[in-house]
Amino acid sequence: MRPVLVITCLALALTGAGAFAFMHARASSARAADASQVALGQKLFADPRLSADGRTSCATCHIPGLAFSDGKMIATGIHGLPGTRNTPSLTTTIASQRTSFFWDGRRDRLEDAVMDPFSNPVEMGLHGRAAIATAATALPDYATWFPSGKETPLAEADQAIAAALASYLRQLPLPPTRFERFTRGETTALDEREKLGMRLFAGKGQCATCHVLEGAHLTDHDFHRSGVSMDDIAARLPELTQGVLSRNLGGAALGDRIATHADEAQLGHFAASHKVSDIETFATPSLREVRLTAPYMHDGSVPSLEAAVDREVYYRGLDTGYPIGLTAQERGDLMVFLKAL
Ligand code: HEC
Ligand code: HEC
Repeated sequence: MRPVLVITCLALALTGAGAFAFMHARASSARAADASQVALGQKLFADPRLSADGRTSCATCHIPGLAFSDGKMIATGIHGLPGTRNTPSLTTTIASQRTSFFWDGRRDRLEDAVMDPFSNPVEMGLHGRAAIATAATALPDYATWFPSGKETPLAEADQAIAAALASYLRQLPLPPTRFERFTRGETTALDEREKLGMRLFAGKGQCATCHVLEGAHLTDHDFHRSGVSMDDIAARLPELTQGVLSRNLGGAALGDRIATHADEAQLGHFAASHKVSDIETFATPSLREVRLTAPYMHDGSVPSLEAAVDREVYYRGLDTGYPIGLTAQERGDLMVFLKAL
């Protein structure tokens, strides 16, 4: 090899290595930034100081051991105040890649959904969205993220808090469920009875039209009527829907209203879309880890998984006009399958 060629090769190798080292440094600093953002999100999530009673955090209602739901019929927030809806599982929200948030789909960005509970009057009770960044930046142990303390521009801190909470939730560990392992080709992850249950779920039961059997999704990302608690508001429907239209609220303000008015909470997706056909429709919940998230339905009115399945079998048949008749054996098969989700 002639010397000049050797030198060119060496130079090329060196620039290559340099570029690699540079890229590597960039990737690891991006990872470090991510880790710092996730750490902020995790800290905020569990911090009761960011609530009006100093005792309520996101983790009060989204409990890690319960797939980030709370096991209660209806959520209770500051000073034990009840809301109007059942707390959804946040690992399920992330795993199913939901495209709208809350039972009525009133938010379409996770970064917005994570901020609403802070100022909801029956959840964490801070006074307005601005109060969140004000409270967090004033706490000395947040100085790592907001070094100039109160000097950090509040709008900037607000965005950083929203992004951090969303990042924290997006990176929650989601070990594959048995059903997920099965869908990835591990045929023995489900036993024979569970496979029978799966066939009923997709076939005779027609459950999979809405709880789509696709990886972890188990939802069609759409809204449907459920018949749960329908009779409560039937007589007052004109008055209630008119009220929603004339107030014309959205986002956090709508969330505040829904959490404090049980009758309006029953209007479901209508409150967000204002379409008559959406009255009393609710987001199809993903059934991932449904065995952990009792009680069930938007208002938590169904106490057990068995009761939820019986209700769905009955109501879905009623809805289509073709009753779904399951034998006791088939019902049992369906149940074991749901517990593997
Ligand atoms: C008082 C209990 C309570 C607290 C505290 C609470 N949540 Fe929730 N969360 C709920 C309930 C109830 C809903 C459903 C509300 C609805 O659909 O109207 C919900 C819904 C959500 C959703 C939408 C999930 C989905 O799949 O639609 C997200 C995201 C969320 N909460 C994040 C948070 C974060 C972040 C915090 C802390 C800042 C928090 N929550 C604090 C009870 C609570
Ligand atoms: C037309 C769409 C649709 C079909 C078909 C359907 N579901 Fe559902 N399912 C929903 C909706 C929407 C909800 C939430 C209703 C509510 O909260 O009011 C729900 C709720 C549930 C829940 C409670 C989940 C939770 O987290 O609260 C279970 C369990 C369930 N369905 C199982 C089934 C089974 C089993 C079948 C088949 C027999 C089935 N569903 C068929 C749309 C459907």
